[in-house]
Amino acid sequence: MKKMLVMLMVVFLVMGFAFAEAQQETMSEQTIEKVIKTNVMASGDLEIFSWWAGDEGPALEALITQFKGNYPKVNLINATVTGGSGVNAKAVLKTRMLGGDPPEAFQVHAGQELIGTWVNSDRMLDLTPLFEAENWFEVFPEDLINLIGTDEGIWSVPVCVHKSNVMWYIPANLKKWGVTVPTTWDEFFAVATKLQAKGIVPLSMGALWTANENWENIALAVLGVDDYNALWSGDLAWTDAKVEKVWMTFGKMLDLTNKDASSMSWQQATDMVISGKAAFNFMGDWAAGYMMTTLKMVPEKDFGWANTPGTTGAFQFLADSFGIPKGCKNPTAAVAWVSACGSKAGQDAFNPLKGSIPARTDANMSLYSVYSKSAAMDFANDSIVGSLAHGCVANEGFMNDFNSVMDGFMKNRDAKAACLACAEIAETNGMTK
Ligand code: GAL
Repeated sequence: MKKMLVMLMVVFLVMGFAFAEAQQETMSEQTIEKVIKTNVMASGDLEIFSWWAGDEGPALEALITQFKGNYPKVNLINATVTGGSGVNAKAVLKTRMLGGDPPEAFQVHAGQELIGTWVNSDRMLDLTPLFEAENWFEVFPEDLINLIGTDEGIWSVPVCVHKSNVMWYIPANLKKWGVTVPTTWDEFFAVATKLQAKGIVPLSMGALWTANENWENIALAVLGVDDYNALWSGDLAWTDAKVEKVWMTFGKMLDLTNKDASSMSWQQATDMVISGKAAFNFMGDWAAGYMMTTLKMVPEKDFGWANTPGTTGAFQFLADSFGIPKGCKNPTAAVAWVSACGSKAGQDAFNPLKGSIPARTDANMSLYSVYSKSAAMDFANDSIVGSLAHGCVANEGFMNDFNSVMDGFMKNRDAKAACLACAEIAETNGMTK
């Protein structure tokens, strides 16, 4: 009897799950189109989830303010989990998604972070009807749409484009120390020797993910655009001597960084340059946002920039976007939010403060700083390659495993071992041909 009861319970549970899944499935297929067609004014709770808090918050706040003006009946809950590049937020998001408690919309990088993680596991709503209704196929670059889309649909709305291969410095400090901006790694190492003799840290660095970002900058410099791309398409073996040279150069670079890097945020690493403890920092151009918006520094006068050594003519790219997960409680408000993210007014409110350039091609560039104008020129003219540290070229499985490889390399500095380990994680994460 007891056995029978247990069996019956199991059957009911399984049926319940199957029913819920089916419900969710039907909803997901129809929701976006229905929301657009019924044109109901959004209201109720809208939880948006991101890692843009504190120093990273002002741009998002500007977008939210604008959104609230257009949707006064929506109660927007700005859920943030701090931690550069989403190191903490992504883990929290995963728990919530798997636990059936998704927010209405969440920040996600265009590329493999979106497709390899959330689209492949069938967790996102297809936004194609919204792209059609908003005429977004005309205003977002085709390459960018390819990164947020698959044959089955379009899965997020890009809000900004960031460049990750930027080297920041303070012009007055370089002048004082009698050094110029290095454009190659040989020049960088020569300048570093001079700086070390004066007690200056040549390159400031933060926690592990910032090391990954520096690594991708060096990989681009050592491999060049074609081989860098070949690494991600599986056409260049991780065990190739060229890749070993990337790790060796990276090891030499590590010797020029601050000893307390692992405990530092990216903002603190930027602060080291500003205070004159360090000469250079490699970081995506949210650092420009931090210096201009939070610290009120003036680009060109108070801070300078150049491509990271050896990457002239290349733009290491990433884009932040917002997607809507299946099963979100208020799809009407979620659609309103992502529409704001993709709108011209929204992008022109957000990006000038963020240090990024708009993802749309029709933005009003007169609103942007001299830094962002130069980044926009680079984006238009340079070879575009994807960022590893910010979700573009590799799926999250690989990125997580790469963290372990990086951690190991920092301890043993064994370039060969790092190459072998990468070859293995590329295989396990389906990144080989
Ligand atoms: C990136 C993100 C940027 C910025 C940065 C630092 O991953 O795309 O918008 O937030 O992290 O946290």
